[in-house]
Amino acid sequence: MKIAFLLTIHFCLLVFAHCYGGNGYDPLENVLSIQRSKRSAQDHIELTAENSYSPVYVGPQDGLKDVDKISSLPGQPNGTDFDQYSGYVTVDPHHGRALFYYLAESPINSSTNPLVLWLNGGPGCSSFGNGAMMELGPFRVNADNVTLSRNKYAWNNVANVLFLESPAGVGFSYSNTSSDYKTGDIQTAKDSYTFLINWLERFPEYKSRDFYITGESYAGHYIPQLAQLIVQNNKITNQTVINLKGIALGNAYVDDETENTGLFDYFWTHAIISDEIHEGIISNCNFTEAGTITDACNDYKIQAFAAKSNIYFYDIYAPLCSPSSNSTPSISAFDPCTENYISSYLNIASVQQSLHAKPVKWESCNEYINKHWTDLPFTVLPVIQDLMATGISVWIYSGDTDARVPVTTSRYSIDKLQTSVKTPWYPWMYEEKVGGYVVGYQNLTFVTIRGAGHFVPSYQPARALAFFSSFLEGKLP
Ligand SMILES: *[C@@H]1O[C@H](CO)[C@@H](O)[C@H](O)[C@H]1NC(C)=O
Ligand SMILES: *[C@@H]1O[C@H](CO)[C@@H](O)[C@H](O)[C@H]1NC(C)=O
Ligand SMILES: *[C@@H]1O[C@H](CO)[C@@H](O)[C@H](O)[C@H]1NC(C)=O
Ligand SMILES: *[C@@H]1O[C@H](CO)[C@@H](O)[C@H](O)[C@H]1NC(C)=O
Ligand SMILES: *[C@@H]1O[C@H](CO)[C@@H](O)[C@H](O)[C@H]1NC(C)=O
Ligand SMILES: *[C@@H]1O[C@H](CO)[C@@H](O)[C@H](O)[C@H]1NC(C)=O
Ligand SMILES: *[C@@H]1O[C@H](CO)[C@@H](O)[C@H](O)[C@H]1NC(C)=O
Repeated sequence: MKIAFLLTIHFCLLVFAHCYGGNGYDPLENVLSIQRSKRSAQDHIELTAENSYSPVYVGPQDGLKDVDKISSLPGQPNGTDFDQYSGYVTVDPHHGRALFYYLAESPINSSTNPLVLWLNGGPGCSSFGNGAMMELGPFRVNADNVTLSRNKYAWNNVANVLFLESPAGVGFSYSNTSSDYKTGDIQTAKDSYTFLINWLERFPEYKSRDFYITGESYAGHYIPQLAQLIVQNNKITNQTVINLKGIALGNAYVDDETENTGLFDYFWTHAIISDEIHEGIISNCNFTEAGTITDACNDYKIQAFAAKSNIYFYDIYAPLCSPSSNSTPSISAFDPCTENYISSYLNIASVQQSLHAKPVKWESCNEYINKHWTDLPFTVLPVIQDLMATGISVWIYSGDTDARVPVTTSRYSIDKLQTSVKTPWYPWMYEEKVGGYVVGYQNLTFVTIRGAGHFVPSYQPARALAFFSSFLEGKLP
């Protein structure tokens, strides 16, 4: 039994210690355990005080769009019929801080399709390596580590998708001032906003385009915070107005209390922990902001994480990557070793060159950034409530086989938002099968994606594209 267990240890864990999709690395739990231990020292932080706006840095962008055009990526399949761009946008010239982006335009209707920003979480994990190459981008890396295949359910079929590596230090993004790698929610939102203003100067054809922000996991913080900054700055300044139409948060960490309660209830209802551990958590843990963290509670939490054993936390019924198996990549049956292929591919010098990236050791997640995260509020639900009242479309979606930020957590968070049901719970269909379930609330839509884990478009690509298309069309699936 012990030997079998050792053999199935994820390869990623041995070679790429910070592989996001890999088994064993849990950036969200890491950042939260550090933050919870210093919670008492942390005050509520208002992201932006009204009227405190000072104009952001805007650098010269002339000609840079052409420089950023990707002629082709090594190993790319023939017949690629859309334009791709990637490169750096400087957000702080004094510190030498620059964020890396990758834009995949639509093959058809690119000039009228909306612009969608995608953000991965962590904090510290790469939106290009994880979001674009593993989840919703146009290509997947094959098991040979050097060729790509087309993802026919890529989200750029219906939108121009912009993947941003954020904050600096993540993926190919960097700063020449190493102290910038101690960062947090506030700086991340500000830099992402500065990035957008500059990027829209580089790509002026997108300036008045419908704009959406999507992402998952810890981006449950990034997305509402950036959206709030955009809404505020759109009012105060006479610079570029970003035409924000909506946000979609996937398996998102938005509130620390519901993260905890939802997590252990999910473990129990999915037969991952015993009655005794669940009851121990219920009677010893007070997960509210004012609640004290007791040793008894921590002990039960440790027991719960140990009891779940070696399952793939991000998609509980999925196979693990095993170095001995000959897994073949297929879009409908996600290859659990994909993260390894991506890590190899993105570290090939010619790949980095064709992406216009600085030559670096690319990593899926930056553990230093994660460990040194400086600020995060206990909850962003008040920010989401503010956004709901602005009239933009706010969607919360959830893959229902994720244990990391499970569907129970999303439902408890929605309870706390105190919005009323407009369209009651119903199954939504995709190709005559239930794709998941929907509830239309006042100013909020909740959608589940059946059979999808944390990285929703990786595990259920067709259903993910179907719900994403509905989101852009502004109607329930
Ligand atoms: C792509 O086209 C090139 C040149 O026409 C050809 O050599 C190559 O075999 C093709 N690759 C694939 C995967 O079809
Ligand atoms: C960082 O420093 C390098 C080397 O001096 C320089 O080439 C680069 O432009 C700097 N990056 C930024 C964003 O200023
Ligand atoms: C492109 O836009 C036209 C006009 O709005 C629409 O009829 C067509 O379905 C679109 N095609 C795709 C592939 O989005
Ligand atoms: C914004 O308005 C101020 C004051 O009216 C003006 O000085 C400034 O140049 C304007 N900025 C832009 C980007 O138009
Ligand atoms: C959790 O702790 C807070 C603050 O001490 C308290 O007000 C609340 O009643 C507690 N909740 C439970 C369920 O014990
Ligand atoms: C692909 O890269 C992984 C490491 O990320 C390595 O273990 C594997 O052997 C490589 N596969 C091939 C076919 O080279
Ligand atoms: C919904 O939005 C309207 C304004 O657009 C606002 O008055 C109302 O309070 C919002 N309701 C909720 C539950 O967010």
